[in-house]
Amino acid sequence: MKAAVAIGGTNALIAVRSRSETPPGGTDDRSNLPDRQFAWNDYIPKNNIGLAKGPSHRLLLHLKYRREGVPNRTDRETVEDALRTLERGFEWSNEGLLFTIGYSPAYFDRFDTDLPPDTGLRDPSEVIDQVDIERSGNVVVETDDAHMHLTSDNPLVLLEAEAALFGDVSEINGEPVTADFSEIFKKVDRRTGFTGAPLPHESWKEDVPGDNPVTEEAPVLFGFKSLFTDSQPSEDHVAITSSDHPFCGGTTEHVSILRDDGVRKWYSEHCTEERIDRMFSPSHNSDETGQHGRKLGRQSGTSEQSMVDIAEETVKNAREHGVVGHAQKLARARNPLPPLLRRDFPSTDNGHPHTQFISLQRTIDDFIDVRKMMSFVDPENERPAASEVPIENHGIQGFFKVIRRGNYLIPPRHLRAFPSPNP
Ligand code: HEM
Repeated sequence: MKAAVAIGGTNALIAVRSRSETPPGGTDDRSNLPDRQFAWNDYIPKNNIGLAKGPSHRLLLHLKYRREGVPNRTDRETVEDALRTLERGFEWSNEGLLFTIGYSPAYFDRFDTDLPPDTGLRDPSEVIDQVDIERSGNVVVETDDAHMHLTSDNPLVLLEAEAALFGDVSEINGEPVTADFSEIFKKVDRRTGFTGAPLPHESWKEDVPGDNPVTEEAPVLFGFKSLFTDSQPSEDHVAITSSDHPFCGGTTEHVSILRDDGVRKWYSEHCTEERIDRMFSPSHNSDETGQHGRKLGRQSGTSEQSMVDIAEETVKNAREHGVVGHAQKLARARNPLPPLLRRDFPSTDNGHPHTQFISLQRTIDDFIDVRKMMSFVDPENERPAASEVPIENHGIQGFFKVIRRGNYLIPPRHLRAFPSPNP
């Protein structure tokens, strides 16, 4: 089923159809759906610590508008119709379909007017930092117009939704497809992935040549559970909430591909305790975290110290241990809540291990601030402190490369079809 989502197309759809449960149907009544497109948490089950458990299968579509200039009214209506078709076909839930569509700075450049200055969107090139360049050389900046993130626990739903969007089926889940994107958007990229054990292990086994270092219990390729009540903010926290803002109910989205080419080294050169030092902090140990972080309770700190205290020790840990943890570095960005709502997931597209990193935040500046905490031991001086902390001890940074970066504005649902910059 996972392979079918990765391959896509009508043959995959036919193969999956005969083995899938019929998904719950949707609605054509707008009042049944939240105006925030990214309002997913209330529509999916919670895990044992009360956080929304992201659906297992993911599909990202990168879309380029086929025409020059500003979109016309007919195209806007067609986009809205196509998206409403998905809402009619599938329930807004993990068993049906949850999705967002966002628009890039390149899209808004088509217009003569600017976005309101407090919208918080920025060109993706502004996110690329010194560490990206040192590690990756050339990071590609996305120039597509729009980006969709679709998710479901049912692989059939993702394949049917994609087929409906591109005019390959005439009905979904018994609902007629009344409009599609085929004349409007070119699909310039499609990315897929999954969450939750044993999918990372199984996907590696199927897709990545050579030995499989990822165990069946690993929730992601790097092996540790992420998202705790203290490290993941609410949807409210990242939303544009000011009622006089034209995009009230919207948010910004950062989308990057991390090529996880160091995963084998992560497991072969480091024992469990060393991996815990690098993922969480040198104050954590396996008695408290367990092999995969599942022994931690609701919070990401230890029983002795909260993550905020541990975060404050980052520079000291760098000096004394020569190693710092990913989570402790990033927890320094809390103010007092963490600014990023993470919706990233692992992927083995094209036979390579990846993290499809997706975060929602009130502004892209928030992302840049958090990323600075990840790149530098001493973010004030913007020094990677390479003499104290070599890259392989600098959290998890030595184990992946950023290869593409894109930023998008996710408008509220009622403005999601080709929004103008100041609607
Ligand atoms: C290979 C990629 C990555 C993996 C496997 C990974 C995994 C993790 C894990 C296990 C944690 C600790 C548990 C938790 O609190 O959720 C964590 C925390 C966090 N990560 Fe990542 N991460 C990755 C990349 C990134 C990137 C690129 C960013 C953004 C710049 C990021 C932002 C964060 C934030 C904000 C936290 C929470 C910090 C806090 O406690 O306030 N992560 N990550």
